[in-house]
Amino acid sequence: MKGLFITFEGTEGSGKTTQISLLTEWLDQKKIPYLAVREPGGTKIGDLIRDILLNAKLTEMKQRTEILLYAASRAQLVEEKILPALQAGQLVICDRYLDSSIVYQSLAANWDLNEVLDINRVATGGLKPIRTYLLDLPIEMGQKRLMVRRTQKDRIELKELAFHQRVREGYLKLAEKEPSRFRVISADQEIKMVHQQITNDLLPLIDHLSEPIDFMTN
Ligand SMILES: Nc1ncnc2c1ncn2[C@@H]1O[C@H](COP(=O)(O)OP(=O)(O)OP(=O)(O)O)[C@@H](O)[C@H]1O
Ligand SMILES: [Mg+2]
Repeated sequence: MKGLFITFEGTEGSGKTTQISLLTEWLDQKKIPYLAVREPGGTKIGDLIRDILLNAKLTEMKQRTEILLYAASRAQLVEEKILPALQAGQLVICDRYLDSSIVYQSLAANWDLNEVLDINRVATGGLKPIRTYLLDLPIEMGQKRLMVRRTQKDRIELKELAFHQRVREGYLKLAEKEPSRFRVISADQEIKMVHQQITNDLLPLIDHLSEPIDFMTN
């Protein structure tokens, strides 16, 4: 398959959305075709699932349900948006993807990893990003940044501090296991500095945009 599939991961407030918006401006200037989507959501069906997943009133949500809903949103996104864009030779940028499920629904939630992986293999057909930027930030700093922006927390953000610490550690473990895919970037830097590190790393990959790459490594 042609195209390039990259993802952004990191705890709440680490700057994923900020960096993706800077990156798309940079791509616009360079006239590089891209598709930028976010998870959960990114499609009409996915956005409806997102509303359920983040609804802070739904405290009765079971872990199994949560895993399946994230996977369902992802399945729709992969088939409806990501695969067609890759087939058209575009750069696809996803704000959270499979690693979020591994970390939030399994590692931090103490839920069987193989179950989450199996369900997501079905959901994605094995589609994996070629590059994942992990924006790493102390939890308290991310929460401070979000306090400025938000008045109400969503269902996931309401989880205890220890949960979010496990998320951060889980991400770092994943990055250690797959150093060729992950780039861990300190998010405790000026926005422009983070952006520069991302584009420096991405530029050589973009040169190969029109060459076939095997994303099905799962
Ligand atoms: N490097 C930075 N330094 C200081 N503030 C930042 C930095 N990056 C982002 N911010 C600010 O922190 C807030 C959260 O950023 P952003 O929404 O991009 O995070 P996010 O990772 O997308 O969060 P979420 O997981 O909640 O979607 C925003 O107000 C943003 O302007
Ligand atoms: Mg965001």
